[in-house]
Amino acid sequence: MSISNSDPVSVLERIETSRLILRRWMSSDREPFAAMNTDPEVMRYFPSVLDATTSDGLADRLDAGFDVDGIVRGHGRWALERRDTGEFIGFTGLGPMPPDVPGAGGTEIGWRLARAHWRQGFACEAARAALNAAFASTSLDEVNSITAVVNEPSRAVMRRLDMRHVDDFAHPVVHEGSSLNPHVRYVLTRREWMLSRAQN
Ligand SMILES: CC(C)(COP(=O)(O)OP(=O)(O)OC[C@H]1O[C@@H](n2cnc3c(N)ncnc32)[C@H](O)[C@@H]1OP(=O)(O)O)[C@@H](O)C(=O)NCCC(=O)NCCS
Repeated sequence: MSISNSDPVSVLERIETSRLILRRWMSSDREPFAAMNTDPEVMRYFPSVLDATTSDGLADRLDAGFDVDGIVRGHGRWALERRDTGEFIGFTGLGPMPPDVPGAGGTEIGWRLARAHWRQGFACEAARAALNAAFASTSLDEVNSITAVVNEPSRAVMRRLDMRHVDDFAHPVVHEGSSLNPHVRYVLTRREWMLSRAQN
């Protein structure tokens, strides 16, 4: 299928910000992605680190998401590339919410970056671009984000994006006694996104 530059599909598959390129996944992303997925600090708020095979499978699934119903609904977990160095630094993007949580059936935004690139504003820069693309190119009404209560860095990104804390819940697939079981949900509606854009 040929896609013109003004087509929302092509806009969503590749997005450029001042410092980043949000794009589909390449085979060269696998090695740095596996390295970040075996870093216990990066995976601190997940049940475990990922081995290389699982990490490769995840990269494939995230890229395949663009081909399923993704683009139509504004979904896509983009690989992030720094424009200054060309390095792959992680991913940010939108996908379906998991089942059996508040907001299930809706759309979720998430992020995971390699440690060397933390605290430089990259997660927020990428997430803003992802939200702008999704809201501008689709009829999406709202975007959710969920994380463990204790994942303060992720909650800080949600707050910085002007998302609202709307729910506290026990994650259905995280062990009940685990400190990672209590979760929060934040939401940004289309209207709030428009107001936030006007102010930023
Ligand atoms: C969460 C994560 C993506 C943040 O990435 P980042 O690029 O460092 O975030 P940014 O630089 O855009 O910072 C966004 C906000 O978060 C704050 N922040 C970032 N790291 C923080 C930390 N460790 N503690 C407290 N606040 C933090 C920043 O100060 C900033 O807020 P501010 O603008 O009000 O100062 C990154 O820490 C990460 O990849 N963590 C591991 C994976 C993960 O847990 N993903 C979420 C799963 S739900």
